[in-house]
Amino acid sequence: MVNLGVLVVVTLFWETINAATLGVVYTEGGMVEGTNIRLGFRRHMDVFKGIPFADIPGRFEKPKRHPGWDGILKATEFRKRCLQVNLLMTSTRGSEDCLYLNIWVPHGRSVSADLPVMVWIFGGGFLAGGSMGANFLSNYLYSGQEIADRGDVIVVTLGYRVGTLGFLSTGDASLPGNYGLWDQHTAIAWVHRNIRSFGGDPDNITVFGESAGGASVSFQTLTPHNKGLFKRAISQSGVALCPWAVNRNPRRFAEEVAIKLNCPTDDRMVACLKMTDPASLTLAGSLSLSGSPDNPIVYKLALAATIDGDFLPDEPSKLFHNAANVDYIAGINNMDGHLFTGLDVPSINSPLVDTAVEDMRRLLGSYTKEKGKAGLDNAFTTYTSTWGTNPSQQTIKKTIVEIGTDYIFLVPTQAALYLHAANATPTVWLAWGGLTRAG
Ligand SMILES: *[C@@H]1O[C@H](CO)[C@@H](O)[C@H](O)[C@H]1NC(C)=O
Repeated sequence: MVNLGVLVVVTLFWETINAATLGVVYTEGGMVEGTNIRLGFRRHMDVFKGIPFADIPGRFEKPKRHPGWDGILKATEFRKRCLQVNLLMTSTRGSEDCLYLNIWVPHGRSVSADLPVMVWIFGGGFLAGGSMGANFLSNYLYSGQEIADRGDVIVVTLGYRVGTLGFLSTGDASLPGNYGLWDQHTAIAWVHRNIRSFGGDPDNITVFGESAGGASVSFQTLTPHNKGLFKRAISQSGVALCPWAVNRNPRRFAEEVAIKLNCPTDDRMVACLKMTDPASLTLAGSLSLSGSPDNPIVYKLALAATIDGDFLPDEPSKLFHNAANVDYIAGINNMDGHLFTGLDVPSINSPLVDTAVEDMRRLLGSYTKEKGKAGLDNAFTTYTSTWGTNPSQQTIKKTIVEIGTDYIFLVPTQAALYLHAANATPTVWLAWGGLTRAG
């Protein structure tokens, strides 16, 4: 009779010496080595943290190719986020040296090959965030481990510049903007060129992201610069057509930033900004995050994409032909607009304070400004049609959140899907209504 304990020990030993692992991986920049973890019986994963996909970026410049390294790069720690304001916008965190990505590669009995690849673009209003996401007791929000394991896919998460360093623009060639979008594109191109060495299929890449990351995914499908680099895209709660995703008059905010930094606002402005230290530049990009029904927060997110004539040669609505060969899923959550409407009409979050219907009318008036009084009246009638004569406070408050959700997320998402469907051959899906936004 074989002793059961011995059998277990032998099996575990066998499992350990036979751990499926890529070991050292050759990339275009040099060799990298990650960490191999055991997930279960005949289940392992290689994790690579902090692989550079570009050089340290020049200030307000497109990312540059990494010069490469000698020896083996230990890819075992997340690198710093890109320089950004902290939550209270009172100081900064992160570094300009931030163009790194992370890779999770699942293995069964043998080392994986030709796996599908999913590339994650984080959100955070183009102002904040990092490739690894928020960290709670060493649990990183955007760890790719769970998706990689359950889906048997390679997960990649990428860093990109945010805030002024990622998106400040004068609206002309002197400071065209979109640096953060170029970073994302550069990371996607790196994955396309290198992922085969990690067991991935470069012809089966899906780009996905949430909020500003969802809008970023949408921009990556619309730019002419990504042709052939990825096959599929998923936008969660954000598309290029969202009212906050593009700033059509970026110079105004660039001048506000310049004034805060004691820079002139004439033709010496850009030179002065480029000489300013990066932390001050970042802090000067702080936004006032208080809104009102007459001046809603959605119009205050000044650091966003620009129509720069290069990454975005035209209005996003006119670029869907570039996405014709990309399979696309876009969706939103119930109450996605809550964060915004709660800042514009704080009483909706208070059980003790009544919300005046007049506040709702004023918010609708702001959203329908271009359509004049007839537009406002029409919208008001639509949203109150089921109210009856004496709507409860709950009804009024929920209607305001619905209005915000429709304007800020749902209608632009539907519009993007219709435009995608009109231009594309593959299948288009529209999904919403199942989930409620948590934060
Ligand atoms: C990509 O991977 C998915 C999941 O394994 C698979 O269903 C799909 O057919 C693949 N597509 C291509 C183009 O290989």
